Amino acid sequence: MARGSGWLKRAITGACVALLVVILGGCSMFSGPQAVNHPAGSNMQTIWNLFVPIFWMSVVVFIIVQGVLIYSVIRFRRKPGSPEPHPTHGNTKLEITWTILPALILAVITVPTLATISSFAKKPGAGSMTVQVVGHQWWWEFDYPGQGVVVADEMHIPIGVPIEVELRSNDVIHSFWVPKLAGKQDVVPNQHNHLSFTANEIGTFRGQCAEFCGAQHANMAFTVVVQSQADYDAWLAKQKLPATNIPSSDQLVAQGKQVFFTAGCVGCHTINGAELNGVQALGIVGPNLTHVGSRTGLAGEVLTQTQANIATWVHNPQKVKPGTLMPNLGLTVDQANAVAAYLESLK
Ligand code: CUA
Repeated sequence: MARGSGWLKRAITGACVALLVVILGGCSMFSGPQAVNHPAGSNMQTIWNLFVPIFWMSVVVFIIVQGVLIYSVIRFRRKPGSPEPHPTHGNTKLEITWTILPALILAVITVPTLATISSFAKKPGAGSMTVQVVGHQWWWEFDYPGQGVVVADEMHIPIGVPIEVELRSNDVIHSFWVPKLAGKQDVVPNQHNHLSFTANEIGTFRGQCAEFCGAQHANMAFTVVVQSQADYDAWLAKQKLPATNIPSSDQLVAQGKQVFFTAGCVGCHTINGAELNGVQALGIVGPNLTHVGSRTGLAGEVLTQTQANIATWVHNPQKVKPGTLMPNLGLTVDQANAVAAYLESLK
């Protein structure tokens, strides 16, 4: 008897430790920037409303099945002096029950799941707004059709307006995911996928590529900024403007512009309205930098946007993000600092 209770104690301790690990491990899942349990968008709310009842149904099934299992293991375990167990074969009633019951439970889960999936296929009607999203290795581009506005790393949208996100890839398969706003949608080369949602909370929300897409997949994040209609309109109006005119008094900024236009940056980047000695920055391989100084993240959010971080990045991008398509142009530290001052001035 003493041997039996020792075994039970160990089993209970083990179960408690496992439970604690699961609970603590879940802490970041329920409060981090990618937590899904406080939906701030219609699409995620719909998914959450489906997930919660299915979760609790699973909990009930889990407790019943595990309860019966654990009870049987303990109640009918081999004891000293117990006789050979009596072999039994088949129990028609029981077998019919445990076939029909799960089939019913699965039907209850399947019907609302399929209804939800098909509801996501519908495009929002009148009054919606389209943003074209392009996945690149390893950063996100946001194109506002008809507005002439192209930004990177940061997507601004107004609250309460149905957003139609058109998803395209420039290279490999990515997945667009803003956990608090909407479910994941694959971004596939040569295929136009779409995702729609309405944000119902003002704030900034982290997005993350959710499909392995190469060495820097983990550093392919972005920010969605949900604003009031007025703030969004003001943001859009500012983005439409050409790049800020650089005050000629700022020597470092002027020097940085000189480097930017002569070291090769213009081959890959656009800065609307900027020009030096008849050369314009019209490259479309890399992110549009017209108002880069107003953004909060850099290079797929591998760095936060500060002048010092831009300098670190342009001085040696391969060190910050090995494998990135941004080449090492061999800029000196002084040149990198000057370019950073120029880019940071593009508010
Ligand atoms: Cu793009 Cu992972």
